[in-house]
Amino acid sequence: MRKTLNISCFLFVFATIANAQGFDLNASIKRGKSIYTKNCVACHMLDGKGLTRVFPPLTKNPNLSDKKRMVHIITYGLKGPIKVSGVPYQGEMTPFKLTDQQTSDVINFVLNSWDNKLGQVLPEEIQPALKTKIKNYTPYKKP
Ligand code: HEC
Repeated sequence: MRKTLNISCFLFVFATIANAQGFDLNASIKRGKSIYTKNCVACHMLDGKGLTRVFPPLTKNPNLSDKKRMVHIITYGLKGPIKVSGVPYQGEMTPFKLTDQQTSDVINFVLNSWDNKLGQVLPEEIQPALKTKIKNYTPYKKP
C-alpha cells in the first residue's frame, strides 16, 4: 500500500514537472505582446490603463482574476455594462478570431504585464474554458 502511494506521488510530481516544462511562459508572453500591440492597444493602451469610463483598464482590475471569463471575452466579445472597481462601463467589445495558442498568448501577456501577476492559461485550457458557463457575462451580439 505504502509503495503504491509512493509510486503515485512520484508519477504526480513527474507529470506536473513534465507539463510545466512543455510550456514556456516567457515565450508565450513575448508572442502575446505582439498580438496585444496589433489587436488591443488601440483601446486598452500600451500601459494597459485604457480610458476611464470608455475602455476598461487591464491593470489593477480585479475582474481579471477570472481567467475563464477572459477566454470568453476574447473569443465571443463582451456586451456591457460592467464595473471595474466601482467605475461603470457601458460599451461593448467585438470578438477576435485567434487560435487557441494566440488566445493563451495574449492572455498570458495581460496576466503578466504592468502590475499584474495573475498566473497563466495554457493553450489546451482554452476549449474547456469555453465550455464552462460564466456568471455575470454577456457575449457581444451583432446589432
Ligand atoms: C475597439 C476597442 C477594443 C479593442 C480593440 C479591444 N477591446 Fe477589450 N474591451 C473594450 C471595451 C469597450 C470593453 C468593455 C465593454 C463594456 O463596456 O462592458 C472591453 C473589455 C475587455 C476586457 C474585460 C475587462 C473587465 O474588467 O471585465 C478584457 C479582459 C479585454 N477587453 C481584453 C482585450 C484584449 C486582450 C484585446 C485584444 C485581443 C481587446 N480587449 C481589444 C474595447 C476593446
